[in-house]
Amino acid sequence: MKVLVVGAGTMGHGIAEVCALAGNEVILCDINENILKNALSRIEWSVRKLEQKGRIKGADDVLKRLKTTTDLVEAAKEADFVIEAVVEKTEVKHEVFKTLDENCRDDVILATNTSTIPITDIAMATKRKDKVVGLHFFNPPTLIRLVEIIRGRDTSDETVRKTVEFAKSIGMDYVLVERDVPGFLINRINIRVFVEAIRLLEEGFKPEQIDAAVKYRAGLPMGLFEVVDFSGVDTVYNVLNEVRKRGFEVEVPGLLERMVLEGRLGMKTGKGFYEYSGFYTRAKISKDLAYSVNPINLLAPGINEAAWLIRNGIATKEDIDKATVKGMGYPKGILDFADSYGIDRVVSVLETRKGKTGLKEYEPDELLKELKENGKLGKKTGEGFYKWNYELEDIGPVRYEKRHNYAVITMRRAEKLNALNEEMWVGLTKAFRKARLDRDVRAVIITGEGRAFCAGDDIAVMGSWKSFRDGVEFFENIAMPLVSELADYDKPIISLVNGNAFGGGMELNMFFDIVIASEDASFAVPEGLIGAIPPIASSFGYALFGRRMAYYALTGETMDAKEAKEFGLVDLVVPKHCLEDAGIEHVDKVCRVAPLAAQSIKRSMNAVRQLFRNALELAGKEIELLIPTEDFAEGMAVFVQKRRPQWKGR
Ligand code: NAI
Repeated sequence: MKVLVVGAGTMGHGIAEVCALAGNEVILCDINENILKNALSRIEWSVRKLEQKGRIKGADDVLKRLKTTTDLVEAAKEADFVIEAVVEKTEVKHEVFKTLDENCRDDVILATNTSTIPITDIAMATKRKDKVVGLHFFNPPTLIRLVEIIRGRDTSDETVRKTVEFAKSIGMDYVLVERDVPGFLINRINIRVFVEAIRLLEEGFKPEQIDAAVKYRAGLPMGLFEVVDFSGVDTVYNVLNEVRKRGFEVEVPGLLERMVLEGRLGMKTGKGFYEYSGFYTRAKISKDLAYSVNPINLLAPGINEAAWLIRNGIATKEDIDKATVKGMGYPKGILDFADSYGIDRVVSVLETRKGKTGLKEYEPDELLKELKENGKLGKKTGEGFYKWNYELEDIGPVRYEKRHNYAVITMRRAEKLNALNEEMWVGLTKAFRKARLDRDVRAVIITGEGRAFCAGDDIAVMGSWKSFRDGVEFFENIAMPLVSELADYDKPIISLVNGNAFGGGMELNMFFDIVIASEDASFAVPEGLIGAIPPIASSFGYALFGRRMAYYALTGETMDAKEAKEFGLVDLVVPKHCLEDAGIEHVDKVCRVAPLAAQSIKRSMNAVRQLFRNALELAGKEIELLIPTEDFAEGMAVFVQKRRPQWKGR
């Protein structure tokens, strides 16, 4: 096939390269000889590099398939398929399309790479409106292997079908945009997300905070402001204004306007949202800033836009997710994000923003409202934009939820600070076992309902132990099954410590793999203060944390979340409003590891744990020995009566 690419600038030369690499004859046409020369040498450099890297063979043949010309009329006569990528000016596009129409064979499709001009408008310049179509590439086309195929008002099904075939033939994946709306698909979503980021900046957040959240938590390849600085603040501003002029409802942030006026255009001027010492230097974005704002706050306006596109039959949800992954580099589709964080969260973010700014653009789309009203909240109810495998079971005070690829285990005795009574121990054991045996479940989240994570063993239960036998029975039948389950667990466990984790509540965390605590969480093993001992902390905990464990076990002192992080029990301390999302994000992080590899890692770690099994059992015996003592009875009484103990050493 002979492909004519008109315009040899930033996009044209890349599109020409992609077409030639796929085996087509390519004519690259521009009005400017120098630009053509430049385009050819850039293509040559790129093709040779691909060959050096072993990605392609026969660079010479590829380059031989490329011709350049300034004669559009002659080039048009030879073309089988045309892609126009000239400057973004309606008059110029009209002129080019008129010439193409007059000189191309009647059956030739004329595709435009425009970002902002309606396809329908461009088609007006021709007598083949049914054969004019949008074929929107992304910069650079050699790397971003996705195109939007946009149907203008008069584009025929046949043209769309042939354009799809063409896109596939040059190795591009594609999404269909069924109506010629300003910004098409990707730019509409992108604009919403960028604009939200800029508004948050105007409200006092720092670029680093927003970029850290989307990079290190949502897993986007670059921060939002890094992308704008790289593309050019003026470019984003112009696209925004263009689509706005054509009916896309968006308030242009004042800050963006001011930056353009001040020449803070991004990397190319050394200063944009960040400062740069040279081109291609990267901004420094610290991970520590990632938990100021939740990524869902930035994604919600984009999700709202996506809902509008779906409801109006402009794009399918599958295409929207494909576009966000392949075109925007998201680690998963934006609707998958919506279902992960929860549709209720998306709606509430939008409503809060609407209340705060008074802007109509935050009004949640009907589709989102409908999903919410029908309880379709995403992974946490089994259906949102998509259907997910879901299971819910209450095992006594323990709630087990399977959310497609992970399980959430919640301790639900909020009124007793989730203290470990028999039902709680047994419920946890069953819930963890259930998650382990379910092949779909790749990771487990454990958390507590209400103010506390878990206040430790229920004193009412401990107080009822009178003899050595009571202790033995409790340990063997109630506590050890959970300890054994956890000590041998072959899936990652993420603990979200939402409040106090005392005694057994702190000790269980020693078996969890990733411990994330909210800022107000605190930890202690105060058993010694009531005549008992923390058995896991005193054995396994001592092996894990060394003498520092002795300090806390022997004094019963409390540590706050930050101290617990320094101590090594907690991996991450986050504000309370980020805790739940941090759990969801860490499920994604651990799911990036190959499942068999994760299993092997856990089995190896468990083997190390087994080395301390004896010590743990000995510690269990120690507590059994303490039960019949007078001091143990005194300890239980002290706890209930809230007085100072009188230890007798008996
Ligand atoms: P550019 O300014 O780098 O290249 C435009 C080229 O068109 C120039 O080389 C110019 O000499 C040539 N030209 C102007 N009038 C012409 C004519 N009558 N006949 C032949 N060539 C002519 O622009 P860029 O960035 O490559 O954009 C081209 C098109 O692609 C625009 O419609 C733009 O909206 C779209 N686009 C741009 C993207 C980007 O990231 N730069 C991404 C996706 C689409």
